[in-house]
Amino acid sequence: METSIIRKNTSLSEEIIEVLNQQIAVEAHSSAAYLGMSAWCHLKGYIHAGEFFRHQSEEETVHKMKLFDYILDMGAHALAPEVHQVNNNFDDLRAVLDTYLDMEIGITNRFNKIAKQCFELGDFQTFSFVQWFLDEQKEEEDTARRTIEIYELIGIELDGLFQIDKAIGKLIPQA
Ligand SMILES: [Fe+2]
Ligand SMILES: [Fe+2]
Repeated sequence: METSIIRKNTSLSEEIIEVLNQQIAVEAHSSAAYLGMSAWCHLKGYIHAGEFFRHQSEEETVHKMKLFDYILDMGAHALAPEVHQVNNNFDDLRAVLDTYLDMEIGITNRFNKIAKQCFELGDFQTFSFVQWFLDEQKEEEDTARRTIEIYELIGIELDGLFQIDKAIGKLIPQA
């Protein structure tokens, strides 16, 4: 049986393999969701926010591949994700930013759950692996919160949305 071969060759528990594969799908969903936000921003003339979300989308792909590679490196079966329910339409720029922060907080909560599960199962290797993601989430949440602060501080009076768009563009990390 193929499954018994897979189980013999990995120290990962089935539970952890499943949760990491679910996380691959979540990162793939984030990547697609940010691409949807990028397109919407471009369409509405927020070209800097459009580039910002394109960059975010690419980062989520990197996260997805990190998980994919870890599962494979551990001798288990990484699964190509299916992506469902991607939003391509938003009421306004603020709705995009609120969704962005909510998503990032949700991802932090997921990684905390994964870390707890690893700890309880005594899987300290995966526990150590997910520390990178927990550190990363601190930055991701901080950046998402900053976009909303920018929105609030500048406000939408006069050319506010034009200035907000420009300021969000400056949050793109320079290579
Ligand atoms: Fe991510
Ligand atoms: Fe993220």
